[in-house]
Amino acid sequence: RKGKTPEEVVKKYLQKVKSSPEEDCTICMEPLGGPSGYKGPGVGPVSRAESVGRLTQCGHQYHFQCLVAMYNNGNKDGSLQCPTCKTIYGVKTGNQPAGKMEYHVIPHSIPGHPDCKTIRIIYNIPPGIQGPEHPNPGKPFTARGFPRHCYLPDSEKGRKVLRLLLVAWDRRLIFSVGTSSTTGESDTVIWNEVHHKTEFGSNLTGHGFPDPGHLDNVLEELRAQGIEEDDGLME
Ligand code: APR
Ligand code: ZN
Repeated sequence: RKGKTPEEVVKKYLQKVKSSPEEDCTICMEPLGGPSGYKGPGVGPVSRAESVGRLTQCGHQYHFQCLVAMYNNGNKDGSLQCPTCKTIYGVKTGNQPAGKMEYHVIPHSIPGHPDCKTIRIIYNIPPGIQGPEHPNPGKPFTARGFPRHCYLPDSEKGRKVLRLLLVAWDRRLIFSVGTSSTTGESDTVIWNEVHHKTEFGSNLTGHGFPDPGHLDNVLEELRAQGIEEDDGLME
């Protein structure tokens, strides 16, 4: 991946398009038959033949230059996500700041999971300075409510979720830097798209137990981030 230009990364996930499609590009809203509506820094002219690209797996089509612009707006990790259907090409990573994830088993049962013990995950992220992958590079970010404690049943499925959360942590997908929808504070560490249970014996916030659908919801949210176990046997 290292050394690949944004154009080379995007090209890897594209098939040639033979005739100019009739539709509009949903990135820039201009017809695919015409030039990209995106005029940003580093967008040079491209030949007619390669002005439109079709993503290999999902088949959605965009201006090549629009895809390159979208890639450049992200964290340039070698992956690309279709803006229409969210299919992920390559390995998606996020912009979670540096910190620590730990877990251990505690000898208590979660409401709704009476037959097993409980996994407690402890996330700790200190405040810091935003990097180029964050909304306001160079500006400080705050980190509220850390260490954050989260709970999973220590069941077969709970342990599977834990394994996938460890992958999500390594790919920097558990937290992000942005505006908290709970407090309205900007430039702060916030949960990303994977829900966690932060209440153990009660459910005052709605982020507690019992919640029979929780583990399946989390597995679905992890899949949307490109994280799943392809074992089938464990199901
Ligand atoms: N526990 C778990 N998830 C939460 C909580 C919570 N207490 N509050 C919000 N979320 C979920 C939301 O449902 C949403 O999907 O996190 C996502 C982002 O919400 P924000 O409010 O933007 O996230 P953040 O500011 O990080 O969290 C607010 O969660 O863990 C606590 O201490 C933390 O009080 C803070 C609260
Ligand atoms: Zn376009």
